[in-house]
Amino acid sequence: MSSAYNVIVLLLLAAFGNVVCGVDESRIIGGQFASQGQFPHQVSLQLNGRHHCGGSLISDTMIVTAAHCTKGQSPSQMMAVVGTNDLNAGNGQTMGIAQFIIHPQYNSQSQDFDMSLIRLSSPVMMGGAVKTIQLADADANYEADTMATISGFGAINQNLQLPNRLKFAKVQLWSRDFCNAQNIPGLTDRMICAGHPSGQVSSCQGDSGGPLTVDGKLFGVVSWGFGCGAKGRPAMYTYVGALRSWIKQNANV
Ligand code: ARG
Repeated sequence: MSSAYNVIVLLLLAAFGNVVCGVDESRIIGGQFASQGQFPHQVSLQLNGRHHCGGSLISDTMIVTAAHCTKGQSPSQMMAVVGTNDLNAGNGQTMGIAQFIIHPQYNSQSQDFDMSLIRLSSPVMMGGAVKTIQLADADANYEADTMATISGFGAINQNLQLPNRLKFAKVQLWSRDFCNAQNIPGLTDRMICAGHPSGQVSSCQGDSGGPLTVDGKLFGVVSWGFGCGAKGRPAMYTYVGALRSWIKQNANV
């Protein structure tokens, strides 16, 4: 039933483009459901058995996520699920966590330095639907309006409904000047912003910590935003290029 519905929605989207985006379930993250193995670096961080945040696999024992996902939590209550696009399917690997390494300059007020590493208690089995993602270079930069890809198990509508299935969407990198003019308080040098002109494609609750990639490399980490998608309103991502050497030092990647 839901897959038939998806087909109809896709047909409508194909026919009317943006006009119908506002009325279907894809209006927050927008985009599409991912196929199995399409985002082999995607992690679901689970707190007491429930999806809590996203993450990206950068080695067989290390994950990059957002500091606000691990701050105040205990590694013993969190698990990392890799290798699945469907959290109900039971086809992923569920890994225990040994340690959180939260960026020492993380500021929970401003969300500056919103990055954390997670060390797994044992290595994941690589291959198939499980692969690492390369990190963007230090200070990597792209022109405004470059297309980036976001993915996550986060909410798909304003009711914050979790789909338990992985979605992905394309957003544009926006310039610091543009985003600061949208009344974003304190966009720091550790943040990048991205959005979609329609406002109907965005990261949302539960996507935090997950990947924003450009050219197949991890360029941003879902961090914060106002609501989920509004016309002209960006979402903020931790800028991997600014924290590249900290990652190298602490994860040896
Ligand atoms: N901070 C939220 C989380 O923990 C969501 C971040 C993205 N929010 C947004 N409006 N783009 O999942």
